[in-house]
Amino acid sequence: MYLTDEEKQILDGQKGEAPQLAMEILKKIGEINGAKRLIPIKSVHLVLHAYKSAFDAGVDAAEKIAEMGGRFTVPTTIDPYGMDAENWRAARTPESYAVQQIRLANAVMKMGVIPVWTCTPYYGFNLPKFGDHIAWSESSAVAYANTVLGARTNRQTAIVDICCGILGKTPETGMHLKENRYGEVLIQLKIDREFKSWEYSALGYLLGKKLGSKIGVVNGMKGNVKNENLKSLCAAAAASGSVTLLHIVGITPEARSIEEAFGNNEIKEELIITEEDLLNTRDDMCTVKEGKVDFVALGCPQYTINEIVRVYELLNGRKVHPETAFWIYANSYAIDLAEKMGIRKKLEDAGVVIRAETCMIISPISEWGFKTLMTDSGKCSYYGPAECGTEIIFASVEECVEAAVSGRYVR
Ligand code: F3S
Repeated sequence: MYLTDEEKQILDGQKGEAPQLAMEILKKIGEINGAKRLIPIKSVHLVLHAYKSAFDAGVDAAEKIAEMGGRFTVPTTIDPYGMDAENWRAARTPESYAVQQIRLANAVMKMGVIPVWTCTPYYGFNLPKFGDHIAWSESSAVAYANTVLGARTNRQTAIVDICCGILGKTPETGMHLKENRYGEVLIQLKIDREFKSWEYSALGYLLGKKLGSKIGVVNGMKGNVKNENLKSLCAAAAASGSVTLLHIVGITPEARSIEEAFGNNEIKEELIITEEDLLNTRDDMCTVKEGKVDFVALGCPQYTINEIVRVYELLNGRKVHPETAFWIYANSYAIDLAEKMGIRKKLEDAGVVIRAETCMIISPISEWGFKTLMTDSGKCSYYGPAECGTEIIFASVEECVEAAVSGRYVR
């Protein structure tokens, strides 16, 4: 792989220990993936964020790189905190876990991370433009950045993302190259109406299963598709499969038409998706169909202020059932707005808990002993059984709110 004179100096250790390590790692990764060079990036989004997934080795590595002088040279944001950022004790986080989480946070802060603690950095100031090269790790955010914003990023991994942040560069491979971004499978939606909100998650989940890592071109999406719908779709597709980019015709900047999305590629594979397919997928996303619900968890990816307001409206003055925990996960932007609007207090008075800057998957919730988790998230329904140790019911947000009030879900 070609290195500039400055990059060679970094590799020789002339700019310090951490940049040297970062260059060694990126050079190796670039060579394995056939990159010809490194390219500058506009931002990084890290996933060395939670002790639950970093473990002791991740904490030690982050501290070591910070001690070696690792400092980010481009804006670098980070995924959710590994426990409730406002009150981890009230969230029954074990002390030993909290100690490690705080060590991890201190290490990445020392490197200069911007502590957004969110998987939706694109709803804050880390908003790439069409064609920007970035190096992001969070799979849902990667799919959103490529699909909705037309930015260019591979699915980075922990530590490699830190290296990209230190150097402000990434190997020019995969999604960074236009020729690798063309569609491979045509997906024809045979649903002649605007989607219901849960159907975006179900579609994402189904596409993830069908596509794996192939690039799908989705044709026929109707109506007023909200940013939150695309967030849910991308997150589910990136969880049940390795989807990095979907072309949604009329939405994705590189897919103003089917022809543009496929570029030089021939259409060799075509899938038809019907309403019945989405209903069947919804069944596949549940481990139980109905019954007592002791945990309703919304906000994967973290809820926006619009979604929090929707829950408030759906509750309509009613209280949460005393035997059901109803938690909403949100980042600090959404929480601040909910406070300013007076909605947080009203939700809390109704029995809803807003968990700050974390999520149900990457925080330790086993202490609560929940049996059945109900969610409107495709990504949560995919990871929930393993990460939360619960049964899963996937449903619409309307049904989730009704279950939180009654304590039961009946289809
Ligand atoms: Fe975000 Fe956690 Fe879901 S990081 S996408 S809320 S698993």
